[in-house]
Formats: sequence, C-alpha cells, structure tokens
Amino acid sequence: MQRQDDLTVALLGAGKMAEALISGWLVTGTLEPGRIRACNRKDRERLRDLECRYGIVTTPDKAEVLDGADVVILAVKPADAPVAMAEAAPLLDGRQVVVSVMAGVRLDALRDGLGGHPLVVRAMPNTSCSLGAGATALCPGRDVPAEAMETARRLFDPLGVTVDITEDLFDAVTAVSGSGPAYVYLLAEAVIEAARSLGLTDEAARLLTAQTILGAGRMLLAEDADPRELRRRVTSPGGTTAAALAVLEQAGVVARVHEAVRRAAARSAELAALAAHS
Ligand SMILES: NC(=O)c1ccc[n+]([C@@H]2O[C@H](COP(=O)([O-])OP(=O)(O)OC[C@H]3O[C@@H](n4cnc5c(N)ncnc54)[C@H](OP(=O)(O)O)[C@@H]3O)[C@@H](O)[C@H]2O)c1
Repeated sequence: MQRQDDLTVALLGAGKMAEALISGWLVTGTLEPGRIRACNRKDRERLRDLECRYGIVTTPDKAEVLDGADVVILAVKPADAPVAMAEAAPLLDGRQVVVSVMAGVRLDALRDGLGGHPLVVRAMPNTSCSLGAGATALCPGRDVPAEAMETARRLFDPLGVTVDITEDLFDAVTAVSGSGPAYVYLLAEAVIEAARSLGLTDEAARLLTAQTILGAGRMLLAEDADPRELRRRVTSPGGTTAAALAVLEQAGVVARVHEAVRRAAARSAELAALAAHS
C-alpha cells in the first residue's frame, strides 16, 4: 500500500473508532505515526496509552492538533458533536478536509456546526478498519470539490473497501456494515459453542470458525461472486450442509436476519433524529 507521506491527520475524539483508524493506517503502512495526531475531551490516560502503543502524537490542545493538519476526522459520539464542532470551527483553515465518522450527523449539520466549513465528507467505517479489512461508505457534502473527496479516499481506501453512497443511504449502511461485524460475531459465538459441545478444544473451535468466516468472506469478495451459487456448490443433496441449512430454514433464520437488518436501519434513523434535535 502506498504511504500517504504528504498527509497529516488530526483526530478529534480518541475512542474506539479513532483507534481502529489509527491502527489501520499503521498496519497498512498508509501513514507514519508522526503524521497522526489525536485529542479527546478529558481522558489524559487514554491519550498517553495511544501515544505509547502507536507512537502517534497526542495532546489535549485542539489548536495544536488541528494546526497544519490536512484532514480532520470527527470521531466523537453524536451527542457530543455540537460541542466538538463549535470548539473546532474557529480553529479550522479553509483547506482542511473534515471527515465525520459520526453516525446520524447529517452533512448540513456538519457544515453548519463547523461554521460553514466548505470541505466536509461523511463516512461510515467499521472497526475492521483496524486490520485494513474494513468497509467504509463515503459521501461528500454539497459542492465539495473532487480533490477533497479524493483526499478522503486516500485515507479510507487502504483500510479495506470503500463505496460511494448518497446521504439517504447511511442508515442502510449502518445496518449492514456498521453493525454487521456483530452479526458475524454472534454467528461465530454460536458455531464455536457448538464446536466445543462436539468435543473440539477451545483453540481448535476458534481457529476453525474464524478461518471459515475469513475464507467465506474472501470467496464472496471475488468478482462476480454470488452467495446463492457459492452456497449451492457446497451443499450436496442429502449431505451434512443440507441437513444444517434445513434446520436454519425451518427456524426462519433468513426472515429474522431481514428483520434484524431493517430494525438496525430504523434504529439508525431514530438516533439520527435524536442527534438532529440535541
Ligand atoms: N465504534 C464503532 O464501531 C463505530 C463505527 C462507525 C462509526 N462510529 C462513530 O464513531 C464515533 C465515535 O464512536 P466511538 O465508539 O469511538 O466512541 P468512544 O469510544 O466513546 O469515543 C468518543 C471519543 O470522543 C471524545 N470526545 C467527546 N467530546 C469531545 C470533544 N468535545 N472534543 C474532543 N473529543 C471529544 C471522547 O473523549 P473523552 O473520553 O475524553 O470524553 C472519546 O475519546 C461515534 O460518532 C460513532 O457513531 C463508531
């Protein structure tokens, strides 16, 4: 992966998502630690910890973090967004690209909250970015020039895959790839428990399950891959896989998954409405 030696990144917020991004940029060799700066609100121990583990630059001082940065990542909880944006607005220079990873904070609200800052991009990454295996959706604000969007892409493309979406699809993306890792972890938990109950050691159960998920994911990423066809190929009539799938079918798992993803999207919309009125 090409190192982005000309970019300095400032993170406002130093929590779980910020750490996933930091780790991803370092693991993939996208940025060197000295080009990543982070600040938070009050947890100094957390800043020291990030500095120790990743060698990045941290400071409680927002002006210091933002000064000279090319890209500013807004990674605070949506409820904390108004304060964080009001604090950042007077410190921004007009050329800095601001990328918000905050769920439910709309582009108009970002622009307004940042005092009319022209270069805002909304992103919805997931925590698998920490390994360079993330999935991120991107959407530029109104009239944001292509170069600004390109700058955002240079930071998020190396962290996995990126897709461009329109803003109305953020709730759907949140439900699919934002919450998605948890669906897979739930399935993994269940398979690992079942594997143990069949006599496999903890380690064997975990390894076999994780590698199976990784391999299936890689098969799915192949060009033109069709999950239905992949499933058909591993399901012999009357065989073991067919027996397992029949149990899941009988339990209505497919319909429940549809329901779960739709519920997550609806919840995302509810939270976005709350964020808009906070
Ligand atoms: N976690 C995920 O899987 C995920 C996925 C996609 C998107 N996101 C989005 O990422 C954002 C952050 O989520 P998270 O899970 O990383 O939350 P988190 O772990 O709670 O971290 C939030 C961070 O924001 C800092 N903060 C709060 N107010 C601030 C301010 N005024 N100025 C500077 N920093 C401030 C907090 O600092 P203190 O600790 O000092 O208060 C903390 O470092 C959210 O908007 C979420 O929607 C998260």
